[in-house]
Amino acid sequence: MPREIITLQVGQCGNQIGMEFWKHLCLEHGISKEGILEDFATQGGDRKDVFFYQADDQHYIPRALLMDLEPRVINGIQNGEYRNLYNHENVFIADHGGGAGNNWASGYHQGKQYEEDLMDMIDREADGSDSLEGFVLCHSIAGGTGSVNIGIYQNLYGNAIMVIRHCVFPNQNETSDVVVQPYNSLLTLKRLTLNADCVVVLDNTALNRIAVERLHITTPTFTQTNSLVSTVMSASTTTLRYPGYMNNDLVGLLASLIPTPRCHFLMTGYTPLTVERQANVIRKTTVLDVMRRLLQARENIFKFVIHGEVDPTQVALSRKSPYVQTAHRVNSFLKSEGKLEVVANRVHYEDSHLMGTAPMGLDVTYVTLGVGETIGAEGLCWICTGSNPKFVGELDEVSGLMLASHTGIRHLFSKCLSQYDKLRKRQAFLDNYRNHPMFADNDLSEFDESRDIIESLVDEYKACESPDYIKWGMEDPDHLLSGEGNATGTVDPKLAV
Ligand code: GTP
Ligand code: MG
Repeated sequence: MPREIITLQVGQCGNQIGMEFWKHLCLEHGISKEGILEDFATQGGDRKDVFFYQADDQHYIPRALLMDLEPRVINGIQNGEYRNLYNHENVFIADHGGGAGNNWASGYHQGKQYEEDLMDMIDREADGSDSLEGFVLCHSIAGGTGSVNIGIYQNLYGNAIMVIRHCVFPNQNETSDVVVQPYNSLLTLKRLTLNADCVVVLDNTALNRIAVERLHITTPTFTQTNSLVSTVMSASTTTLRYPGYMNNDLVGLLASLIPTPRCHFLMTGYTPLTVERQANVIRKTTVLDVMRRLLQARENIFKFVIHGEVDPTQVALSRKSPYVQTAHRVNSFLKSEGKLEVVANRVHYEDSHLMGTAPMGLDVTYVTLGVGETIGAEGLCWICTGSNPKFVGELDEVSGLMLASHTGIRHLFSKCLSQYDKLRKRQAFLDNYRNHPMFADNDLSEFDESRDIIESLVDEYKACESPDYIKWGMEDPDHLLSGEGNATGTVDPKLAV
């Protein structure tokens, strides 16, 4: 039975990355721009119906909703080469078409105003699925319109349905970007912390750095960074879209990565990274290369999805020595990060399981490494290798995705806090917010509360690195937070997990 997933793309960024995501899925599943299944793709055992449904004439339609308060980006999609792919009833553009002008408060209040229309659209789409599993939301955290869906989500199907958000964080090195982004980011981050199930962090600062330093693109465009984003997004859904026995539903994929309710922010890593037309400059990769590179990225590993054309002997090899090497690498990485103490006794490896061959040739090998119990080393690391369907030339090479739950993410939040503090200290640009009910009469408590929550999130991630984390927020907060490297101040009891 399909476990359907509906995608909501909101605002400029959400729709632009959403568009790239659908292009990627179409290529992988052999679906044309018109939604017609290509001849070579008709025999597949892939699970197209998770993300697409079939219209009466059998053509495939994405389970996608496109929303924006201004028409430009969605109009572009509706006039572009994929214009026939989407269900046009699933498009929402605000009547006035004026956008939210990069003002979070404006987006939020407009979201409330349009909530009923938007919920109707979501309900209609949800009614079309037999067994709805969840939603994928894409939006930026720094714009005005991205905040719209936060209001909606709070009313969305309660806790029964899993929501995974792909959220773009602003480029912190770019001064030309809109000046109030730190305000918007902080206000969005509060909702992401308190209400989201899982947030995949897509950081424009990192994406740009990768494009410049590793792909040698002098001035990366959104099209180029979005191509990286769509690669990560589609790879993170691979196990949902192809048969296999693990990670093939959202809860199974994400549960082991989210140790406590608020520590639900995931980092990603992908190798080899290419953008259009660069694929051929990457030399032939092996499973071992991919594993090594993901580890060399010096980001903590937790879940890998490695796919591509894999020589079975390579897979067989990778089940022995590299496997141990991987554990060793994890170990030394954690040591260099000062986390070995926590995990030293817990690194262990299990046998890998070689899966049967799925009809489309998706062999999946899972290797599980259990590494420790605190979040700095929490979660299992799955290494899946297999051969993907050969629809997309680029995927013939071996590639790997890493989804990581890593305490280092707190530095990104700290950066957001310091950028906010700079702006707020000067009381800059607050008038635009005061024009909206939430901030009327100079009531800026929403900012203050958001700031406290993000600070407490940073503290929690810091606390995760301590062996005492399990007790964090449960006992005397002063005692628990007084240790070296821990944050100052007390924990708001209502925020404690
Ligand atoms: P408005 O303020 O009403 O326009 O809200 P919005 O949600 O449409 O804003 P937008 O998505 O443009 O958010 C601005 C932030 O998103 C900035 O940090 C941009 O750098 C980033 N952004 C916008 N479009 C893209 C995109 O296509 N790709 C990436 N990676 N980032 C984007
Ligand atoms: Mg916009």
